[in-house]
Amino acid sequence: MAEEKIIKSNERVKAHGEVFTPKNIVNQMLNTFAIQPELQKLSATFLEPAAGEGAFLTEILLRKLKIASRVSNTIEAFEQNSLIALTSLYGIELLVDNTELLVIHMYQVFYQEYLRQLSIYNAPENKKVVKSALTIVKANMVQGNALTGKNKNGNDIVFSEWSLLPVKRGIQKVQRTEYTLDAIKTNGPSVDGQPQVHGSEELTLFDLDEEPVEIKPRKFEPVPLFDIFREKHVSE
Ligand SMILES: C[S@@+](CC[C@H](N)C(=O)[O-])C[C@H]1O[C@@H](n2cnc3c(N)ncnc32)[C@H](O)[C@@H]1O
Repeated sequence: MAEEKIIKSNERVKAHGEVFTPKNIVNQMLNTFAIQPELQKLSATFLEPAAGEGAFLTEILLRKLKIASRVSNTIEAFEQNSLIALTSLYGIELLVDNTELLVIHMYQVFYQEYLRQLSIYNAPENKKVVKSALTIVKANMVQGNALTGKNKNGNDIVFSEWSLLPVKRGIQKVQRTEYTLDAIKTNGPSVDGQPQVHGSEELTLFDLDEEPVEIKPRKFEPVPLFDIFREKHVSE
């Protein structure tokens, strides 16, 4: 088995405090933390503000995919539940190379489990599911400075909230809304009558108690989960 590297260079440790958490420590921490009950919920939201290459987020995703597998009895149900799990995980990482690996690692964990489920159900791969998974991971794993709320170009860090709409005729739709990290910290989400999936009692980024004031989130069209990859904006 390849040896786990916890540092890349002394310079990076000094400049960015870059020391990665070994897998066994990640597991010990996730097993003992008070977040245990949240780890049992498919849509409980987690944000890691110094995510590195995803040591924690990939393990949390693995655990959520196990839940998705447990609660699904068709491949379509697993596809939907695994996408819902993905929408609930957020990361911020300062360094560009780490952010790229963070995206790759999250996607790999998703895809490996998807392939395993396809073989269990003897089902063909649904390209829309795979493309939507990648869209979610790229939207939720962002490059930036968690302290300043800015990315490498000096622009605001933007996160997407994924609200599940009521199921109609068996189709689960989702509405994506973008917020800047700064707006989320200051105002919380804009509440517009849509059910907020990553809400209330959970450890959530979109759950701040302060009184909402006017913010201008960018909205996307409500679409079935498998059509997330189309990224259709609501026309203004
Ligand atoms: C101690 S490492 C931990 C990485 C990962 N959480 C883990 O446990 O393996 C800290 C990470 O935070 C990143 N980082 C440092 N300052 C940051 C900041 N202001 N905003 C976002 N990420 C930051 C570093 O590049 C590094 O990858």
